Amino acid sequence: MSRLATVLLLASSVRLAAAATAQIFAPASKGPLVQSANYTSFSNSTLKDRPTCKGKAFNRIIQVWLENTDFATAASTPIFEALAEQGILLTNYNAVTHPSEPNYVAAIGGEFFGMHDDNMYHIPSNISTVVDLLEDKGVTWATYQENMPTDEFYGFNYNAKNYITPAAADYPYYVRKHNPLIIYDAVSQDPKRVKRVRTFND
Ligand SMILES: *[C@@H]1O[C@H](CO)[C@@H](O)[C@H](O)[C@H]1NC(C)=O
Ligand SMILES: *[C@@H]1O[C@H](CO)[C@@H](O)[C@H](O)[C@H]1NC(C)=O
Ligand SMILES: *[C@@H]1O[C@H](CO)[C@@H](O)[C@H](O)[C@H]1NC(C)=O
Repeated sequence: MSRLATVLLLASSVRLAAAATAQIFAPASKGPLVQSANYTSFSNSTLKDRPTCKGKAFNRIIQVWLENTDFATAASTPIFEALAEQGILLTNYNAVTHPSEPNYVAAIGGEFFGMHDDNMYHIPSNISTVVDLLEDKGVTWATYQENMPTDEFYGFNYNAKNYITPAAADYPYYVRKHNPLIIYDAVSQDPKRVKRVRTFND
């Protein structure tokens, strides 16, 4: 069963009432500019966008999506506790349906188009997304996908060496259903926009 826990962390002074036992995560890499040995993708260096418009309270927004972990588990890890202490913790989450893919699609396009599975879809280019809203206001954006093999990857899933259980078979750490922008042709078929669908190593 896959649970969708979308965590939008803008800050918080609220401590979680029901703190679960923190899961132990191996660090993805030794530092923000160090490529993890466990990831398959190339590092193509970061996008060189400067802030294009000044926000009233902040200039950048980062939305962190955690998949297949419970809210309480993720929120009780030291890194998220530290972030939450710096501002607002948002705790009211609702899925629009089940399973994963339609929820991801709805988060980007405001609609899940009656989808009820995790199959291979592409949504016609006449359907607009949050990207149109951002670009209309001159706000730059990018999406970073863990274990995606290359920037702009369009494939369904990608199997990589199993770095949790090395003796086990290769594992699909990257799955397309969790990468909603690539599902929209308005992004994936636009040569300029698709360059902003990046691997996490960037
Ligand atoms: C790779 O994953 C293993 C198992 O989780 C972990 O022990 C190790 O620290 C990771 N290596 C890197 C470079 O992230
Ligand atoms: C990223 O790097 C790889 C390997 O050097 C290259 O094949 C690919 O075209 C690069 N992608 C972008 C978007 O620069
Ligand atoms: C959008 O494009 C699809 C596929 O080409 C077409 O079936 C649909 O009628 C179009 N919708 C609108 C509102 O133009």
